[in-house]
Amino acid sequence: MIPAGKRLEVLYTEEQLAERIREMGAQITQDNAGRELTIVAVLKGSFLFVADLVRAIDLPVTIDFLGLSSYGEETRSSGVVKITKDLSMPIQDKHVLVIEDIVDTGLTMRYLLENFETRKPASIQICTLLHKPANQRCDVPIDYTGFVIEDSFVIGYGLDLAERYRNLPYIGHLLDT
Ligand code: IMP
Ligand code: MG
Repeated sequence: MIPAGKRLEVLYTEEQLAERIREMGAQITQDNAGRELTIVAVLKGSFLFVADLVRAIDLPVTIDFLGLSSYGEETRSSGVVKITKDLSMPIQDKHVLVIEDIVDTGLTMRYLLENFETRKPASIQICTLLHKPANQRCDVPIDYTGFVIEDSFVIGYGLDLAERYRNLPYIGHLLDT
């Protein structure tokens, strides 16, 4: 059920997502040749993206999950972040690749970076499927971006509206009717 007064329009089809993710995986593989990567997927939004992306990366990898949630519901990020599930393994001296669904204000990523730096990894790279620069409130050094999008609220392929729609196989945006 789409919220009243809204309609859902497809922004990226399954095929477009698959093609871009194959390209991103090839680039990550090329840039990190000879390294082992510690992949950290930020839950929950990146669960489908990371599942597809890791199969496009031809390197030795380990995979861990970090649960983060922004306080505040619905469509605005409050910038107040809490860890709902911490990593299961240390990242000291590891080459970390953080996988996010979307960077919007950048506040979640900034919190994560500050937190991770205290754990002394060998390096940190950031990979996000979507980047919405219109709302950016702090600088985030993004290494890999799937798509840069306009300022609209997107759902599907892992992204939610109040926890719903994560299972849509495509990314759509909610528009006013
Ligand atoms: P930021 O802290 O504002 O960069 O937001 C990061 C988090 O807000 C993302 O990881 C998403 O969980 C959520 N978010 C931001 N924009 C959207 C959107 O358009 N759709 C769904 N979730 C979003
Ligand atoms: Mg998220």
